[in-house]
Amino acid sequence: MTSLFAKKTVRLAIIGLLGCSVSAIAATPKNTVPYNPPGVILDLKKKNLSLVKTGSYLVNAIGNCNSCHVAPAAAPISNSVYAAGGDPFKDGKEIIDPLRFLGGGRKFGAAPAQVTANELTPDAAGNPGKLTLKQFITVMRTGKDPDDASKTIQTMPWPIYKNLTDHDLKAMYEYFRALPVTPAKP
Ligand code: HEC
Repeated sequence: MTSLFAKKTVRLAIIGLLGCSVSAIAATPKNTVPYNPPGVILDLKKKNLSLVKTGSYLVNAIGNCNSCHVAPAAAPISNSVYAAGGDPFKDGKEIIDPLRFLGGGRKFGAAPAQVTANELTPDAAGNPGKLTLKQFITVMRTGKDPDDASKTIQTMPWPIYKNLTDHDLKAMYEYFRALPVTPAKP
C-alpha cells in the first residue's frame, strides 16, 4: 500500500514538475533576455546571445547605467526612469520607460561645468554611444573622454566600473549593441 502510494506521489510530482517547466517555457516569449526591461525590443541578429544575457544582467541588475543615461521625459519634464504609474518608490510596481531607456541627454552639474550623459543605444552604424568596443573599454577603464583625452569623465562612477573584467565590459557592449537604434535627434 505504502509503496503504491509513494510511487503515485513520485509520478504526480514528476508530472507536476514537467507541467511547470512546460508552462514556464510557453510563458517565455522567444528572444527574452533576463533583466532587460519589458518593452525594450532587442535585436539579437548577429549578436552573441550569451554575452547579451551577461550584459543585461550587469547593466540592469547592478550597473544602474539607465539612472543617468536615461533620456529625460519632455512633458512633464522628468529624469525619472519610470513610466507614468510605474514608480516602485510610490506603489511598488515598476515600469521602466522603454522609449527613454539609455537614450541619453540627462544633464549633471551647473553651467559652465555641466556634463551630459549621452545615449548608450547604438547609432545607425550599430555602435553604442557611437563608440567602438575598444573606445568603450578605454572610457570605462580610464575615464578619459573619447572625444578629448585631456578631459576626465565626470560624475560617472568609472573608478568602480574600471574593475570589471574585459569579458564583462564586452558583455555590456554587446547588450548595448542589441538595443533599439537611437532615434534621430533634432
Ligand atoms: C551617476 C551617473 C552615471 C552612471 C550611473 C553611469 N554614467 Fe556613464 N556617464 C555619465 C555622465 C554624466 C557622462 C558624461 C561625463 C562627462 O562628459 O564628463 C557619462 C559618460 C559615459 C561614457 C562616455 C561616452 C562618451 O562618448 O563620451 C560611457 C561609455 C558611459 N558613460 C557608459 C556608462 C555605463 C556602461 C554605465 C553603467 C555600467 C554608466 N555609464 C553609468 C553618468 C553616469
